[in-house]
Amino acid sequence: MDKPKGARAEDSAALLELAEASIGSRVLQIVAELGIADHFPEGPAEPGWLAARTGADEDTLVSFLRLLAGHGVFRELPGGTFELTSRGALLRSDDPSSLRDVVRLHGFNYPVLEHAGYSLRTGEPAFPSLRGQTFFEHLRDNPGQGTVFGAAMAGLSRAEREDVLTGYDFSPYRHVVDVGGGDGTLLASILRTHPEASGTLFDQPHVVPSAERTRDDLRLHGRMDVVAGDFFTDVVPKGDLHVLKSIIHDWSRPEAEVILRHCREAMSDGGRLVLFERVLLPDNAPSQTKSWDVLMRVLLGGAERTVAEFQDLFESCGLAFEQATRVGPAMFVVEAVRSVSTGHAIE
Ligand SMILES: C[S@@+](CC[C@H](N)C(=O)[O-])C[C@H]1O[C@@H](n2cnc3c(N)ncnc32)[C@H](O)[C@@H]1O
Repeated sequence: MDKPKGARAEDSAALLELAEASIGSRVLQIVAELGIADHFPEGPAEPGWLAARTGADEDTLVSFLRLLAGHGVFRELPGGTFELTSRGALLRSDDPSSLRDVVRLHGFNYPVLEHAGYSLRTGEPAFPSLRGQTFFEHLRDNPGQGTVFGAAMAGLSRAEREDVLTGYDFSPYRHVVDVGGGDGTLLASILRTHPEASGTLFDQPHVVPSAERTRDDLRLHGRMDVVAGDFFTDVVPKGDLHVLKSIIHDWSRPEAEVILRHCREAMSDGGRLVLFERVLLPDNAPSQTKSWDVLMRVLLGGAERTVAEFQDLFESCGLAFEQATRVGPAMFVVEAVRSVSTGHAIE
C-alpha cells in the first residue's frame, strides 16, 4: 500500500541524506589531513587569512567550513568569519583528546571503501586486491601511514580509557598481558591506576618501539615488559589477565580462532581473557558498530560480532564465555575463562 505523501517525503529526505553523507565525511577528512584546525587563532578568523596560511582556495575553504559548521565543527559568525568550536578543537594536533589522526585514518581508508562492492561480491577484503598486500603488511611497509594508524589507535584508546578503566575491575590481577597492545596507551593506563600490577605488551616488531617510548615516558620501567612477536605463530606471553582491545574484529573467524587458542595456552590456571570490542546489536538503529562491521570486512576480512558469535567463537577455542557488559557508548567487555575442553587443535 502507498504511504501517505508526508511519510514518502520523509523517506526521500532520509535516503538522500544518507546518500550524501559521504560528502561531509570526506570534507572532514581533508580538513583534518590539512591540519586546518591547527591554524585557527583563539578568536574568529578571516577566511582569506586562513586560506593563505593553509594553502587553500578561499571560496572553496569557505564552502568546506560552512558545511562543517552545520555539524558543529566550526561556527560561521556575522561578517563571514569562522571560529573553532569545542567539537572542532578535537581536530587540533595539540588537543589532549585529539581525534585528528582517527579522522585522517578514515581518510586513508576512504579510497578502499570505494571498492566495497568487491567485498560484497566476493566476501573477501578489498584492501589486498587494491594495494597488493594486506592492511597490516601495508602499514608495516609504509611507516608514514603506520604512524598515523598507531596515533589513531592511541587517540581512540585515550577517548575510551575512562570507559575501560571504570567499566572493568582490573584490581584482582597481578600480571596483565595486552595482546596487540599497539603503542601501550591502554596498558600504561591500567598499570598507572593499579600500582601493584605489572604487565606485558605484545605486538609486531615494528610497532613495539612506540610502546617502549610510552613505557619510558611514563616511567613504567620494571613494571611493563614489551615483547615483539606474531600472535599467529609465536607463543603469547603468560599472565593472569589477557586483554585484547579491538583485535578480534580485525580478523576472519579462522584467524580469530588461532589468536584465541594461542592466548588460551598462555593463560594461567584461573586466568581470564577479556576482549574490549564493539558488539553488534539486533536493534535496527544506526550505529557506528554497523559501519565498522563493513569497514572491517572491506579492509581486513574481519567483522564486528554479536554476543552469540563471541560465545560460539570462545567455545571452539577451549574458552568458556562468562559475560558481555557494556562499558561505553559502543564498547563492551566480553569475558572468558579456560574451559575443560581445549577446543580444536592449533594448526
Ligand atoms: C586495531 S589495532 C588495536 C591496538 C590496540 N589494542 C588499541 O586498541 O589501541 C590492532 C593491533 O594488532 C597488532 N597486530 C596486527 N597483526 C599482528 C600480529 N600478527 N601479531 C601481533 N600483533 C599484531 C597491530 O600492530 C595493532 O597494534
